[in-house]
Amino acid sequence: IKSHVYVDTDSIITSLDKRIYGQFIEHLGRCVYGGIWVGENSAIPNLKGYRLDVLNAVKAIKPSIVRWPGGNFASQYHWIDGVGPRDKRPRKFDLAWGQVESNEFGTDEYIEWVRLIGAEPFIVVNAGNGSPEEAAAWVEYCNSTKDTYYANLRRRYGHSEPFSVKLWGIGNELWGRWQVGFCRDAEECGWRTVEFADHMKRVDPEIKLVAVGVDYDTEWNVDMIRIAGEYIDYLSIHTYIFTDRQGKTYEDLVAWPIQIEKNLRHVYYTIEQTRRKYGIKKEIKIAFDEWNVWYPEAQPPYLEQITSVKDAVFTGLVLNALQRLSRIVPIATFAQTVNVLPLILTKEDKMLLTPQYLVFKLYTEVEEGNVVATDVISPHYISKELEEVVPYIDASAIYAQNKVYLFIVNRHPEENAEVYIHIKNLKPSTIQHKYVAGSSINDKNVFEEPNKVGIEEKAYAFREPVTLPPHSVNLLIIS
Ligand code: AHR
Repeated sequence: IKSHVYVDTDSIITSLDKRIYGQFIEHLGRCVYGGIWVGENSAIPNLKGYRLDVLNAVKAIKPSIVRWPGGNFASQYHWIDGVGPRDKRPRKFDLAWGQVESNEFGTDEYIEWVRLIGAEPFIVVNAGNGSPEEAAAWVEYCNSTKDTYYANLRRRYGHSEPFSVKLWGIGNELWGRWQVGFCRDAEECGWRTVEFADHMKRVDPEIKLVAVGVDYDTEWNVDMIRIAGEYIDYLSIHTYIFTDRQGKTYEDLVAWPIQIEKNLRHVYYTIEQTRRKYGIKKEIKIAFDEWNVWYPEAQPPYLEQITSVKDAVFTGLVLNALQRLSRIVPIATFAQTVNVLPLILTKEDKMLLTPQYLVFKLYTEVEEGNVVATDVISPHYISKELEEVVPYIDASAIYAQNKVYLFIVNRHPEENAEVYIHIKNLKPSTIQHKYVAGSSINDKNVFEEPNKVGIEEKAYAFREPVTLPPHSVNLLIIS
């Protein structure tokens, strides 16, 4: 196929907010226990109990923010169980997932781990069966410099300086019947959010708050903004693409990012309309704080799956969309980082990097710059499931220090793409080309063959057209 990509370096959409490449870890299956934390006495190489191979792999994709402790787990988690001497912490039944929670990994361990990987924390409080008072105490434990009980508890456990957790979520998916302490309706959830926000902000007025929204329920989002709008900064949206729907093809899967992008714009439009209608002055944006594909094999309590090149294509397309959307969706956290719907999979002392992980590696290469406008002329196909016209080529660009970082996805399952690149204000001379493509859409990395799919790299003089392999996610560094 032939296509044209136009990059306008003068048309700045927004400066890049690296929080769109965030990650999410939950006490679920082997994500925290086994994936992140193995304990100091483990035979698996670790740094103070943190699994080293995973620590380094996560560091390498530079997440600037990591959401924790859930997910559904958050809605029944009592943070006080997870602080203090580790051997004294209570073993509790986890009402969300039916597992036993040892509480070995708690707030102090999480904060230390996010700092080790160079990220900022994002804590979700228990707004299911927890209380506003408990949430406010957690804020005090983490952020307070006063001479008060919970701040002193943090000091007693070895942390004289506050953790300074700026971003807090109030609850998780409280609209779902599977959620411990779910709300009857948005009205109830809105008022619950106000109560939590009010308590938490009395302790630290500087914190930013994320309230529960729904990806396809406009009425819910309207009620939440109407009631809690003056208290919150972000509306949480989750979207999983369930791949078990009858007849869903590769073409449908890789069409979904278009739907996701449209829907996030629609949610933002709803937020803006509601703010206007009810005179809400607070600016509210979106935290897309759970997103991924979800295969039928990923069943509780482990939710394990091994994704393939087609999912890498999906991931590249969502990341392109998130770059374009990052003014209105400045935060996104991928669900999840390790062992649960994973980017990274471990088995005993071995670790596997999925093609989705490799895509994150490509996208997190550029750390700052401006997201600039791109236009694409490309042949199309029709997705039957979505009844959507889908271009084979998708592009997004970041302009930084006279270089264009052009992310191009070729959705075509079989054909190379010959892409003519037109950049305003730049006479390119060289291209560094990195891509993830594998040899088929179903290629995966497995423990028996962990490097089947990798990142390919080439460098060449700028020429037209550039050839991109089928089902590929490409980063072209053009200078
Ligand atoms: O990521 C797995 C689960 O999916 C999360 O716990 C929940 O928020 C969502 O339904």
